[in-house]
Amino acid sequence: MTESSDLRLMRMALNSGSGHMPALGFGTLIPDAAETITATRDALEAGFRHFDCAERYRNEREVGETLQAGMAAGGVAREDIFVTTKLWNTNHRPERVEPAFEASLNRLRLEHLDLYLIHTPFAFQPGDEQDPRDQSGNVIYDNEVTLLDTWRAMESLVDHGRCRAIGLSDISLNDLVPIYESARIKPAAVQVESHPYLPETELLEFCKEKGIVFLAFAPLGHGMKPGLLEDPVISAIAARVGKTRAQVLLAWAIQRGTAVLTTPKTPARAKENFNISVLPEDAFNEINRIQTRQRLNPVMKTGIPGFIARVSRQL
Ligand SMILES: NC(=O)c1ccc[n+]([C@@H]2O[C@H](COP(=O)([O-])OP(=O)(O)OC[C@H]3O[C@@H](n4cnc5c(N)ncnc54)[C@H](OP(=O)(O)O)[C@@H]3O)[C@@H](O)[C@H]2O)c1
Repeated sequence: MTESSDLRLMRMALNSGSGHMPALGFGTLIPDAAETITATRDALEAGFRHFDCAERYRNEREVGETLQAGMAAGGVAREDIFVTTKLWNTNHRPERVEPAFEASLNRLRLEHLDLYLIHTPFAFQPGDEQDPRDQSGNVIYDNEVTLLDTWRAMESLVDHGRCRAIGLSDISLNDLVPIYESARIKPAAVQVESHPYLPETELLEFCKEKGIVFLAFAPLGHGMKPGLLEDPVISAIAARVGKTRAQVLLAWAIQRGTAVLTTPKTPARAKENFNISVLPEDAFNEINRIQTRQRLNPVMKTGIPGFIARVSRQL
């Protein structure tokens, strides 16, 4: 799965045969355009080579500009970076998939994508309104398309050569299995909420068995307080091993065989979140024994991102 014991450089093989994903990834869910640019630049400078984007984040243009500038400055080639973006819920109809993909690629100023994910398994009413609501404020779902229809259109993107691997996000094991079984091109990655309070062990085991990269978001419990960053087990381990609590949580995620996304927004945090190292076995096991269970993001039940209060109105 990996070829380095340095967690910062660890890479995970994709079952698509299209190369490797750096296990430590930078997430671009940043509502502010200017902050997207500085945070992406700082992440690149700190050493992040995996960038997680989405049509829904409405900042692919800023991420693309910053990555181009980083590559133009030298030292980083396109093949050195791994870029993912995601198909939004309003584009699940098969005829909308390729145009949505091309639009993302244009905004990102890339010739190909390393990974394209179906952002959630929920299809919304097709159209330009990303958050379609009826008069009572309820989301308008689209019952005319199945997840498998959308998956078939994703497979065609791989056939056409501009997308190296495809996968799903915010998906349960129950919903993943039938897609996996029917897929001509198997999912290469699934992106889901996961941290010590939501280890998703069954899903992780399935992914390991099938060679699917399990990509965890919210590794720091999204910085919610009180939360994982104040957990006494995490705090004690951080003090013991001389690392920060964020570094402990990120290291744990990679040591258990997942890839992970984090979103530092300052140069100091970018360096901190990149500078992780292997935890001693006793510390790793202690985190595995944490009994608290908590899902933070309701998106898996509704398809509506509900993670970040100040962003949820826009996203
Ligand atoms: N597929 C999906 O539905 C989905 C949903 C959510 C996220 N994602 C992806 O996952 C990425 C990661 O998002 P996340 O929320 O899971 O990121 P995260 O890094 O786990 O949490 C970010 C929060 O942690 C805080 N933080 C970051 N570094 C820290 C540090 N060193 N010490 C203390 N606090 C720290 C940040 O605080 P500040 O705000 O103060 O910087 C922010 O509040 C997103 O950018 C996105 O790409 C995907």
